[in-house]
Amino acid sequence: MNRIITIDGPSGSGKGTIAGLVALRLGWHLLDSGALYRLAGLAAGRAGVGFDQSQVLADLVLGLEVEFRDGQVFLGGEDVSLAIRTERAGNAASKVAAVPEVRAALLQWQRDYAREPGLVADGRDMGTVVFPEAPVKVYLTATAVERARRRYNQLKEKGLDASLADLITEIRERDERDRSRAVAPLKPAPDALEVESTALTIEEVSKRVLDKVLETYPDLRDEGA
Ligand code: C5P
Repeated sequence: MNRIITIDGPSGSGKGTIAGLVALRLGWHLLDSGALYRLAGLAAGRAGVGFDQSQVLADLVLGLEVEFRDGQVFLGGEDVSLAIRTERAGNAASKVAAVPEVRAALLQWQRDYAREPGLVADGRDMGTVVFPEAPVKVYLTATAVERARRRYNQLKEKGLDASLADLITEIRERDERDRSRAVAPLKPAPDALEVESTALTIEEVSKRVLDKVLETYPDLRDEGA
């Protein structure tokens, strides 16, 4: 299966939105890998497992009962769609994500998403580690302040409490942790199309990505994309 598009970048860069739009437009599967790390972080917190207990964390991840259904996420049958989207869950995710055993436990799970007719995968290391063979790789960025502002609006829309100043600090801390970790650090793949989205609309970013997709897979035009 070589129809894979990877979309990586820091928190709040718009990866999730763009990946969702591209997957919908093409009718391809979508992998939100951040959700898997968020689920792992949530489960670790609930089970009281410390971030230093690497093998226990990895075993916990392998035993997670996760289901994605109708746009909702279930953990052991419980709807955790909102619980995994809080800043707290994001920070827990970023901590478990720095544990090599956790990343190894999630690797095959993520690769299994590569199915016909195609996959759009969003995360931090989709193009560098999980799908290095993907023919289309995108790396999305935006300034930390702009990303915090977007996250603030998203949280408010969901009725969740937020402070812009705290979000800016948290986004900077999370960036630092994601970029400096020893395993699968956040960085663009050498062959990624880099898109700086601070001054771009969602439509402009998705157009750039779709232009690249259609250039790589010209037959998709005939399929009506
Ligand atoms: O993308 P999202 O903000 O949901 O990801 C939450 C956290 O999970 C990130 O801050 C990052 O530490 C981690 N993550 C990762 N690798 C991925 C996706 C997410 O390390 N492929």
